[in-house]
Parts: sequence; C-alpha cells; structure tokens
Amino acid sequence: MPSSTTVRRRCCAAAILSAALALPALAWAQAPIVIKFSHVVAEKTPKGLGALKFKELAEQKLPGKVQVQVFPSSQLFGDAKELEALLLGDVQLIAPSLSKFDRYTKKIQIFDLPFLFDDIAAVDRFQSGPQGQELLNSMKNRGLVGLAYWHNGMKQLSTKGELKVPADAKGLKFRIQASDVLEAQFRALGANPQKMAFAEVYQALQTGVVDGQENTWSNIYSQKFHEVQKTIAETNHGVIDYMVVTNAKWWDGLPPDIKKGLSEAMAEATAHANKLAEDINQVDRKKIADANKAKIQPLSKEDVAAWRKAMEPVWKKFEGDIGRDLIDAALKSNK
Ligand code: LMR
Repeated sequence: MPSSTTVRRRCCAAAILSAALALPALAWAQAPIVIKFSHVVAEKTPKGLGALKFKELAEQKLPGKVQVQVFPSSQLFGDAKELEALLLGDVQLIAPSLSKFDRYTKKIQIFDLPFLFDDIAAVDRFQSGPQGQELLNSMKNRGLVGLAYWHNGMKQLSTKGELKVPADAKGLKFRIQASDVLEAQFRALGANPQKMAFAEVYQALQTGVVDGQENTWSNIYSQKFHEVQKTIAETNHGVIDYMVVTNAKWWDGLPPDIKKGLSEAMAEATAHANKLAEDINQVDRKKIADANKAKIQPLSKEDVAAWRKAMEPVWKKFEGDIGRDLIDAALKSNK
C-alpha cells in the first residue's frame, strides 16, 4: 500500500500535469481568430472604407474573439494573386471587382455588359433581387462564397488624347481588368485592350505602355490617373462593383456565434459603405475637375447613343454564357 505522503505526491503531480496539459488548450481557446482582409484600392475609397468599417464592427461585436487585419493597396496580394490566396487560406476576405470572377463563373459577366444598368441604384435593385442574391452562391462549387455586394460606381473612359466619339478610341491601347467581356468591349471599338493588374495601371499610363483606361471617379482620383491622362469622357458606360468573398470551407467551419457576429458586421458594413459610395465618387469627380489636369469631357445624349451603339455587339457575344433571363432581370431593374 502506498504511504499517505506518496499518495499526496502523486495527486500533486497529476494536478500539475493536467494543469500543464490544459494550458495550451486554454491559450488556444482564447487566441482571437485572425481574419486577413486584402484589397487593391486606397483606404479612402468606398471599398477601403467598407473594409475598415467591417473591422471596427466585427471586433466590437466579437471582442477578443476575432482580430481583423486590413491590407489595402495590393500590399498583401494584388489582382493576380488574391483569389488564389483566398482559396489557399492565406487570406480570409477579399472584395474583387465583379469583373474579376469570369474564371469562376460566366454568369457574373453580366455586370460587365456595357450600358446594361442606367445607374448604381439600378445595380443595387438587381443585386438585392433574387437573381442577384443567387449569384452570391454561384461559385460555391469552386470553394468561394459571396457574403455581400459593395458598390463603387459607374465607369468613365480616359485617354491621353481627345475623346468624345467612339472613333476617338480606335487604334488606342486600353488597360482593362481581367475580363473577357471588357476585352470584347474594346475590340468592338477597334481599340487594343490589355489585361493588367490594378497596381500597375498608373505607371503603364505614365510611360505610355497603354493610352487609356476605364474606371470610377474614386479610383481615377485615388490612383492619380487624371494626372497622366488628357481627357476623361463622362460615359457612365458600365459599373465597377464588388463581391466580398470568403473561402467556403473556412466559413463553414467557423463556430456559430462567430459566424453570426461576422454576418451581422458584414451586413452593417455593407449598408454603411454602399451609402457612401456615390458621394465619394461625386466628391472625387469635383477634385479631378478642380485639379485641372485632365479635362472632363461631357457627353450629349447623342454622343452617349453613339457609344452605346458601338459597344452593342458585346451583348450578342456573351448572351449565351450569361443567359437571357438574367439579362432581362437586370434590364428590369432600370426604372
Ligand atoms: C480595377 O482593377 O480597375 C478595379 O477593379 C480596382 C478596384 O478594386 O476597384
């Protein structure tokens, strides 16, 4: 029989051992889940501010449980790598423009059809409707889940020369996002499109690698494109909006309370960012006008009709992939 001293020693040793074993588990349980949110634009843009709002709300709702790290301006991953990084688990949230998903689903190409939506309000109606909401889940089989749509704004067309009628774009080189629809759009104008990551555009414009580009007022201003372009034609011919996406496996594996808190933070950050987007674009338009570097070229109704006609062939080319029903639903969102 062991003596009482031996029993006490064994109990004590067992207690120390179990405390030691529990320590890492305790530390692990208390370590916040780190959520890396990577994006390519500047902080003072609709997407940049949306990401910061999401961080604030998520950390407020889940104190000590999550830590959101936001990486703007392609600091962590640029266009070419961010979707891959998300699928590999190197980041947990990204918000690429809707033009950058065509490798994952053809349906989302709808957002690139030129002159489909009259304005951002129409885009919003389509995204909030059943077809738009369905698209958030259209890449699940590729490991991606869409959590929200975030607005930026309507696109304008800029070049280093004069730009008023479609013939002015003929023969020029334009930087485009990685989208086959946008490639077809510039080919329809007789121009030469070049797919290029966002972070490379300023230098490509400055050095003459490309002559022009298309983007929102907010992106043009925050990237200083107006300083290296001569004319920005106010075409409003398309939209740059975003889908906030996450890795489906990571998302599905989150504890329910964390998922709920993050979903709420995302819904609130989305409402906040989407309310700001139009104002930011209009303020940045004014800053570009005041800077007096590139001329803002207004277009008459007739001018716009000419651009619309020149880009029309693109619709036919992609109607099969996108689906006529989806296009009709989008058209109905114009009022
Ligand atoms: C672009 O590549 O021009 C934009 O999609 C960048 C962005 O994220 O707004």
